[in-house]
Amino acid sequence: MFAPTISTCKAPLSHLLQRCRRPTSLSSLTKQLCRHHERHSHSRLVLGIETTCDDTGAAVMDETGRVLAERLHTQKRIHAKNGGIIPPLAQALHRQFIDPVVQGTIKDAGIEMKDLSAVALSTMPGMPLSLRVGLDYTKDMLLRHPHLPLIPIHHMEAHALTVRMVERVDFPFLVLLVSGGNCILAVARGVGDFKVLGVTWDDAPGEAFDKVARRLKLQHHPDCLGLCGGQAIEKMAENGNFRLLIERGVPMSRHRDCNFSFAGLKNMANWLIQHHEVRQGLTASDDHHLATISDIAASFQHKVTQHLVIRIARAMLYCQQTGLIPEGNQTLVVSGGVASNDYIRKALDFTTSLFKYKLICPPPYLCTDNGVMIAWAGVERLRLDMGFAEDPQSLRFQPKMPLGEDISEQVTEANIKIKRIKFW
Ligand code: KG4
Repeated sequence: MFAPTISTCKAPLSHLLQRCRRPTSLSSLTKQLCRHHERHSHSRLVLGIETTCDDTGAAVMDETGRVLAERLHTQKRIHAKNGGIIPPLAQALHRQFIDPVVQGTIKDAGIEMKDLSAVALSTMPGMPLSLRVGLDYTKDMLLRHPHLPLIPIHHMEAHALTVRMVERVDFPFLVLLVSGGNCILAVARGVGDFKVLGVTWDDAPGEAFDKVARRLKLQHHPDCLGLCGGQAIEKMAENGNFRLLIERGVPMSRHRDCNFSFAGLKNMANWLIQHHEVRQGLTASDDHHLATISDIAASFQHKVTQHLVIRIARAMLYCQQTGLIPEGNQTLVVSGGVASNDYIRKALDFTTSLFKYKLICPPPYLCTDNGVMIAWAGVERLRLDMGFAEDPQSLRFQPKMPLGEDISEQVTEANIKIKRIKFW
């Protein structure tokens, strides 16, 4: 695990030096500094808590990024059976599991609350009912441990920063966040400093994967039991022919920007499914699966990939033209649930290499929601001594919150044309 050299006592040391206003002998200052160093030389610990959507996660991490313990209760299987997330059910499950998840993590880490230096909590963006559980629980915990600072975390920023826990990735870098609720292409310039090149105008890619998977009834397919929509499509696509939609255009091809649209692709897949149902004498409510299910899954996945590839190619050219990413730092980080899709990863790998960019995806288990990424985002802030909530008890969650400054119009003005990129 990448463990950068850090000064664990930078901020407290500056406090100490500020306090030494009275003339102090050198030896007394040295003694104070030694005592100070003893107190702060151990790595500080952060507890991360995640409840933005359908995962209740917690992790304890030290400042070097070492995970002491983590626990995760995922509701994905339950929601998969219902064919989608039911927010009140998600809330009830968070309420049921948050205490065992958090307390279990602390116990597994072999620590007590007094050993922690901060609590990091994802407070934005996300589903209001889910966010509320994490915030209420944390506020209650902090009433009993008022010494602990709270670091509110932007869930999507946590996805963007996770990679720095496992690999050396310096700012600035290009980052694509693709999940069940978001699609964001941005330049990460620093902790809490993002420039957003584009976002989805309608569905998120994971949402489109989930809806097409449901329309294909993959939750009942013997090869896909327990898989989420995206995983099920990827699995079915393995042996499929991706050319069924090859004659169809790619979304937003007339918009020379870095925004996305997945609703049209979802409708295109739904049209294809209906067309094949008619041809094969099936109806949508039929228990049988289409004989061409793999081809449809592969074709949909291919179209999503094509769309992502074009927008990313434009982003790389834009960053090159504007100097937003200096030469030598050309890295694209891709994270979020959809980033665990191997087909998409391979196509992005090909595309980034064309533009002399390095593609980095965190390992799949870190691409989906978890407490580790929240703890890491907390560590990043703790190291910089920034981002603490002034009054944790009056903190509110924010269901919607942009990741950073929107520069999508500047991208449109740059009017960058992208030629077709043939990744296979
Ligand atoms: O980041 P994530 O765990 O959290 C939410 O946004 O909830 O992403 C979950 C999304 C789901 O929509 C799921 O279908 C999608 O990521 N996903 C995938 C794959 N694995 C998960 N989509 C495509 N291919 C995959 N292998």
